[in-house]
Amino acid sequence: MEFFEVVKRRRTTNGPFLPDPVSEEHQRLLVDVAAMAPSHFNSQPWRFVLADDRAVIEEVARISGESMRRLMEEGTFWKRYRPYFRFSEEEVERRRDGIHIDKLPAVVRPFRRQIFSNTGQAVMNRLGVPKTLAEDNRKLVADSPLLLAVLLDKTEYRPGELSGFYSVFGMGAAVENVWLATTELGMGIQFVSTPMEVPEKWEEIKQLLSVPEDLELMAVYRLGYVPEERRRPTIDWSSTERKRPSQYVFRNTCETPVADTLGESGT
Ligand SMILES: Cc1cc2nc3c(=O)[nH]c(=O)nc-3n(C[C@H](O)[C@H](O)[C@H](O)COP(=O)(O)O)c2cc1C
Repeated sequence: MEFFEVVKRRRTTNGPFLPDPVSEEHQRLLVDVAAMAPSHFNSQPWRFVLADDRAVIEEVARISGESMRRLMEEGTFWKRYRPYFRFSEEEVERRRDGIHIDKLPAVVRPFRRQIFSNTGQAVMNRLGVPKTLAEDNRKLVADSPLLLAVLLDKTEYRPGELSGFYSVFGMGAAVENVWLATTELGMGIQFVSTPMEVPEKWEEIKQLLSVPEDLELMAVYRLGYVPEERRRPTIDWSSTERKRPSQYVFRNTCETPVADTLGESGT
């Protein structure tokens, strides 16, 4: 694929992967490209765990599902993420950011604005939404052929210090390289993020991966080859829109947004 084509086609995979194992060659390629990323003074503060053992994957899946259920039943999820939910094409077109909740079970659809609010949590719980989503999440993770844990060397990753910020910056670049490479390889990738939002659950993942004292576990991803025809989970979202240039780029000072189309006044 052309480089710019890869950049444009890079996506987060919300749906299931094919059951095929990720080849050793591809696994190596993913970490090789990660290592090509820039880092402060070439410190390469990132470390990775490639997990393809079924027992490990299923345990992470269990922890992920449980975390999801807890975050939803306790309402943390809705409080934290409500600002990013969009429910109509009109809203998406206007804001051009956030995630569009465009697939919901028919029973929930008429109440979508209420239930995706802080106050709608009780209704959500009554309709069994947290349980459904937690099981969807567990299954998605369990059926993934590969997990990738991203860690940082704590001698570099010192939160609050410049080196801590630089390490996170470099890690982001490394992960983006992996993300782009999955696109080229016909693979998909998604954060397994719920455990990191529940401290005890994150501890469980650290124990499972035998993370030593000198490393900080930063993120876990699930990866696999993407099927031709994508099946969507029970509740799903899309986030393909991007802001217009005038919404996020300025010329010379922050007071002058650029024009959306090249050649228009305002540059
Ligand atoms: C720091 C960070 C955290 C994210 N957390 C999650 C997550 O918890 N679950 C998920 O499915 N995607 C997660 N994503 C992916 C974003 O939702 C996604 O990149 C965004 O909606 C744009 O969609 P796209 O990647 O398909 O272009 C995260 C991305 C970043 C950079």
